[in-house]
Amino acid sequence: MSRDVFDTAERALNAESGHTTVWSNLGYWRDQSQYPKAAEALARLLADAVDLGAQDAVLDLGFGMGEQLRLWRQAYGVQTLHGVNASASQNAVARQCVADADYQLSEGHAETVLPLPGAPAFSKVLMLDCAYHFVSRASVLGRLRGHLTPDARVGLTDLYLPRAPSAAEAMALRGMCALSRIPYGNLLSREAYCQQLVQAGLRVQRFTDITAEVFAPFAAWWRRYGARHSFPLRDRLKFATTARFIAAAARRATLGYALVVARPLSDGGGPG
Ligand SMILES: C[S@@+](CC[C@H](N)C(=O)[O-])C[C@H]1O[C@@H](n2cnc3c(N)ncnc32)[C@H](O)[C@@H]1O
Repeated sequence: MSRDVFDTAERALNAESGHTTVWSNLGYWRDQSQYPKAAEALARLLADAVDLGAQDAVLDLGFGMGEQLRLWRQAYGVQTLHGVNASASQNAVARQCVADADYQLSEGHAETVLPLPGAPAFSKVLMLDCAYHFVSRASVLGRLRGHLTPDARVGLTDLYLPRAPSAAEAMALRGMCALSRIPYGNLLSREAYCQQLVQAGLRVQRFTDITAEVFAPFAAWWRRYGARHSFPLRDRLKFATTARFIAAAARRATLGYALVVARPLSDGGGPG
């Protein structure tokens, strides 16, 4: 059976909600011990950082199996949303999550689907735990030009490099990126990351390192959860490899995780 590059395997991580959720991010574990709650907490952290609300016109890139779409609708009252996600199998699940909403969901890579002809100017753009997977984050950010209201906010939770890796560390990072479908060029220092946003006509309003609340606790949770649940071997290897790698990366500070909020450069307001 052929599988999408990004598929629905992460459904299996959601047993603690009785499989009523379909999250597939790394989670924000500060006050959580179960995966579905931690994944929701990461989504809420992002939504709250951009002040998501009912009046927003939202562009959501990399929405996975759509659990976040359900959250935006039910908890934040979002009515107007265009989503772009790279996976047919995930999008089929997502459509069920928001069958009652008037959301426009497109299938494809954001770097080819954008710009969206005839779309409204978006007041919020969300990239929840996905931009590091884009074939080119720079290209996607560049394609937001012309899609944003003057006071729009663009929010991401994303990987970055907290320090320059040694040659051996860079080799290990490259290997992990290849296994995890992360283009290595998307891993940037904080300075280069902010510069990439500037080149797309955005200025960084907030860049908060949240590595400690994401990497090690996800890995610790996986060790407990993985021991108690069965998975197809391929999926177990994927989750176990991710967990081991990010735990090691957190210990050695070779990889970091950040909450980022940016605004159009033309917006004259100061930091919010
Ligand atoms: C780690 S998952 C996170 C999913 C979701 N945001 C969540 O929190 O559950 C990464 C997502 O990025 C999507 N993705 C990867 N590359 C993409 C691209 N170039 N354009 C749009 N979506 C992409 C994948 O289909 C996948 O759903």
